[in-house]
Amino acid sequence: MLVSENPALSEESVAAAVAAALAAIAGAADSAAVKAVRAEHLGEHSALALLNAQLRSVPNEQKALFGKLVGGARAQVNEAFAAKDADIAAAEMARRLESEAVDVTAIAVPGRSGSRHPLSLIQERVSDVFVGMGWEVAEGPELESEWYNFDALNFDADHPARAMQDTFFVEPLSSHLVLRTHTSPVQVRSLLERDLPVYVVCPGRVYRTDELDATHLPVFSQIEGLAVDKGLTMAHLRGTLEHFARVMFGDDARIRLRPNYFPFTEPSAELDIWHPAAKGGPRWIEWGGCGMVNANVLRAAGIDPEVYQGFAFGMGLERTLQFRNDLGDMRDFLEGDIRFSQAFGMVV
Ligand code: PHE
Repeated sequence: MLVSENPALSEESVAAAVAAALAAIAGAADSAAVKAVRAEHLGEHSALALLNAQLRSVPNEQKALFGKLVGGARAQVNEAFAAKDADIAAAEMARRLESEAVDVTAIAVPGRSGSRHPLSLIQERVSDVFVGMGWEVAEGPELESEWYNFDALNFDADHPARAMQDTFFVEPLSSHLVLRTHTSPVQVRSLLERDLPVYVVCPGRVYRTDELDATHLPVFSQIEGLAVDKGLTMAHLRGTLEHFARVMFGDDARIRLRPNYFPFTEPSAELDIWHPAAKGGPRWIEWGGCGMVNANVLRAAGIDPEVYQGFAFGMGLERTLQFRNDLGDMRDFLEGDIRFSQAFGMVV
């Protein structure tokens, strides 16, 4: 022990060590400072440690006295540290509470959530109506063979719908592939793939070489319906369409069938829907086409038209949305502006 660096053990030297420690503790501002002060005033080279070490050389009759003196001093310093630790912890907690405070009365910044495209929503809605009646949802490719798109649907080789101005043909022409011009090819695919009876709807995208303007899109969506069973009549077709119209447009919805021609249905009809709130006054609006499945289509799918009958219909989904939701410009469907989708609600 280096006695020269160390004051002799006495009441004064112990009191001085305690006073120095207490002053240092009082001056420590944070837990790092307290740590340094603790090392300096309680560590193995601290004044108190060195005074404590001198107890060994104290005469026996004074050991109890000095032992108590040094022990009391250390206890006092330890207590001061404990109080300081508690103060600092409380101050740090207060700072944290302050910085992490949440103002529950503040107006929340609304988070941006996406919304689904109205066409996806109506496709599902329409499909649901039919699934609810036990129908199934069928699919077919948008890049379709000419055979499914035209031949199997009883289009003559020189039918005008095949002409270049309506159909996107895919090169090389010898591939006999087209971008499907309607969802009707899924009729034939469904009949070939499924067991009878068949009740399917097929929503999907179709393509025609129309100029893009407010009322025409070169790519648009249709929903096709096909039922093939024993004993189906035009009355079943009409009843089905009426139910569909009421679910989509309300219980007052009215439909009308007008004679028309499609190669794949016979008889064929144009389907109109009554639009009481149309701009410019109530009127009938063309909604789609329909009819009894042509016997030639059933034959192309290997079905005996003497045994099975069918009905089919197809309507444009953009048109359906247009007058259901009073939309003006068809181009809005293609532009992907989030405000257009959001107007239909935040269904995700
Ligand atoms: N495919 C026809 C069209 O695009 C609509 C239709 C479907 C007509 C089913 C009759 C039966 O115009």
